[in-house]
Amino acid sequence: EAIELGPYAHFMQKEIFEQPSAVANTLEMILNAKSISPNLFGNKAEEVFSRTSNVLILACGTSYHAGLVARHWLESVAGIPCNVEIASEYRYRNPLADQATLVVGISQSGETADTLAAISYAKKLGHQYSLAICNVPESALIRQADLCFLTHAGPEIGVASTKAFTTQLATLLLLAMVLAKMRHKLSTKDERQMIMALRHLPVALQHTLQIESQVKIWAKSFAQKRHALFLGRGVHYPIAMEGALKLKEISYIHAEAYAAGELKHGPLALVDNEMPVVAIAPNDQLIGKLKSNLQEVHARGGELYVFADADSQIMQSKNLHVIRLSEHAGILSPILHTIPLQLLAYHVALVKGTDVDKPRNLAKAVTVE
Ligand code: G6P
Repeated sequence: EAIELGPYAHFMQKEIFEQPSAVANTLEMILNAKSISPNLFGNKAEEVFSRTSNVLILACGTSYHAGLVARHWLESVAGIPCNVEIASEYRYRNPLADQATLVVGISQSGETADTLAAISYAKKLGHQYSLAICNVPESALIRQADLCFLTHAGPEIGVASTKAFTTQLATLLLLAMVLAKMRHKLSTKDERQMIMALRHLPVALQHTLQIESQVKIWAKSFAQKRHALFLGRGVHYPIAMEGALKLKEISYIHAEAYAAGELKHGPLALVDNEMPVVAIAPNDQLIGKLKSNLQEVHARGGELYVFADADSQIMQSKNLHVIRLSEHAGILSPILHTIPLQLLAYHVALVKGTDVDKPRNLAKAVTVE
C-alpha cells in the first residue's frame, strides 16, 4: 500500500495517533493569526454568512456525530439556531426551506451518496447556500457546495473514522467562532483566548494519547462482554454516541449511547454486572447531574468505566473504574474526550482479533444508497 503503516499495527491506530498533527494541519491558517476571518471558508463566505440566521447540518455516521457537537457550539458561541439531521432521513421528508439557513454538509470522503443527495434536495427546496466540510479536495461534495473548508487530516484508510472526526470538530468550532464574530457575539478578548486554546489543542491531544496503556487494561475485560452502554450529557452525549459507534464498528460488541439523564426512562433496566457502562465525565456544569446518574448505575450492581477530567472528583471504588484525563479543557473538552473512546474500541478489537481496518460488512465511503 502506498501509504505506509510505519511503526503501527493498523491504519486505525496510526490515524488515532496522527490526530495532533492532523488537527494542527487543519488549523494551520489560524495558528499564527491574532484573529479569524470568514475567508477561511471561501471568498464568498463573508457575504453568505452575513445572510445566515440558521444552520442546518446534514451528514451520516461519524460526520453526523460531529454535527451534533457543532450544534452546541453554534448555539452557545454564536447564538445561532442549528438543526442536525441524518442525511438519509432528511432527503425523504418534506422539510420547510428558508433562504437564511446555511446548509452545512460534513463528510470525510465527500462521496457519501445520502449526504450529497440531501444537500441537493435542501437546495431544491429553496435553501440558498451550502458549505462543505470535507477531507478530500476533488470530491463531489466540494464540487457541489458554494463554500468549502478542507480538513487537512490526510488520507484516512481505516474504515472507522478517527482523525477525520477530530479535524471536523476543530473546523466546526472555527465556524461557530466566525459566525459569532460576525454576529458581534465574540469579544476580541474571547476570540484571542479561543485561538490560544486551539493553538494548544495538538499538544493537549498528544497528552491525552498517553492514556493508551491504561485503556489497554480495560480492553481485556471489555472483550468478554456482548453489550455496552455509553453515557454522556450535553455536548458530550454525541461523543458517547461516537464511542458506541466505534466499538460496534470494529469489535462487533453491541453498544448503545444514552444521554445520561434518560437512563431512568429505560436502559437502567438492562444494567447488571454483564453490561459495562462507559461514562464521559468532564468537569463541566453537568458533572453533578452526571454523578447522580452514575450512582443510579452503581447502586444496581452495574460496572462503571469512567473517563473523568483530573478535576472531576470521581473516586475509584469497587465496580467503578476511573481513567483520568487532564483538567477540564472547556470548550475543547469533547475533542479530547473522543481519544480514549477511540483507543478503547481499537484495543477491544485487538483482543477480539477482528479485522480492525476493514470491519465486516462496512465500507469506507458509501457511494450508493
Ligand atoms: C461510512 C464510514 C464511516 C463514515 C460514514 C460517513 O459508514 O464507514 O466511518 O463516518 O460512512 O462517511 P463520510 O465520508 O460522509 O464522512
